[in-house]
Amino acid sequence: MTVGARAQQWASPLVCRAMGKPRVVVAGSVPEAGVGLLRERYTVEVAQQRPRDALLQRLPGIAAIVTPTAVHVDEQLLDSAGASLKVVANFGVGYDNIDLEAVRRRGLRATNTPDVLTGATAELAVTLMLAAARRVAEADAIVRGGQWRGFAPDQFLGHGLIGATVGIVGFGRIGRRVERLLRGFDVRVLYADGSGSGYDGPAEHVAMTELLAQSDFVTLHVPLTSETTHLIDAVALAQMKPGAILVNTGRGPLVDTAALIDALRSGRLAAAGLDVYEGEPDVPVALRELPSTVLLPHIGSATHAARAAMAKLAAANVIAVIEGLEPPSPLV
Ligand code: 8YV
Repeated sequence: MTVGARAQQWASPLVCRAMGKPRVVVAGSVPEAGVGLLRERYTVEVAQQRPRDALLQRLPGIAAIVTPTAVHVDEQLLDSAGASLKVVANFGVGYDNIDLEAVRRRGLRATNTPDVLTGATAELAVTLMLAAARRVAEADAIVRGGQWRGFAPDQFLGHGLIGATVGIVGFGRIGRRVERLLRGFDVRVLYADGSGSGYDGPAEHVAMTELLAQSDFVTLHVPLTSETTHLIDAVALAQMKPGAILVNTGRGPLVDTAALIDALRSGRLAAAGLDVYEGEPDVPVALRELPSTVLLPHIGSATHAARAAMAKLAAANVIAVIEGLEPPSPLV
């Protein structure tokens, strides 16, 4: 059964045997499509993610918490919730914010929201490729600022995506979806850092160094772990093709920001399209001042449909665990 089908099954009130009213804290403005499912069954409290202390004060006695990925789920948070806690339901597919070992040690469940945001995130990666290559943000700012003086043949010349070589780092759900979306652009696709098992499309599996050396665009789709932190550092940036474009819709710490700024300033890279940052929501002034960056505020999955589906899946995970059933998308 697919994650979606299991989510539907557990989201049905028919499978819910209300036994008292467990308390569920939803940290942040998670869409009502999911929160409503929880309200039908439990006492739901919506809490702000920040300040953290205020969030922690809401946790004693809860059965479940729904956490956007900006919330760090560590020993302190789990301690604050106490023995009543059954499940941490991440509102997001990435789970580098959760100390899974700590969750496991306590015999709790943790869940995430895979699949439902794959298309939205992949299309944002393609959006950033095009926007960075065609200097969309820079050009928009000129028009918006009333500084456009009319067409000129040499204005805002950029690079094309059609016919380019695209390197996809991480070939899981989102990386593979990017490859499919790009088919109409007649690109050559290379991928690294993924097994490619079960894949029989046109993309070529290559070593990371080869991907960096050959790609006109490099797009990152690996999870953040201790191994992938600063995967794109000064050495990797120096291995990239001169004039290449870097896109990051994964996690900010995949890229060494200081090294990226140097590579953009020197012109070694033509541009970067970023949706995520080290130390979010702070974005270095140097990055913001560079005309060759397109900077988005972590909106990879921000379509109405994807966010609603994420909320429903997070709710289905909570309901299943509280009901003593297997959640649709478990991590632990
Ligand atoms: C989320 C994300 O929108 O799913 C993820 O891992 O980074 C985004 O899609 C965001 O983190 C919400 O919690």
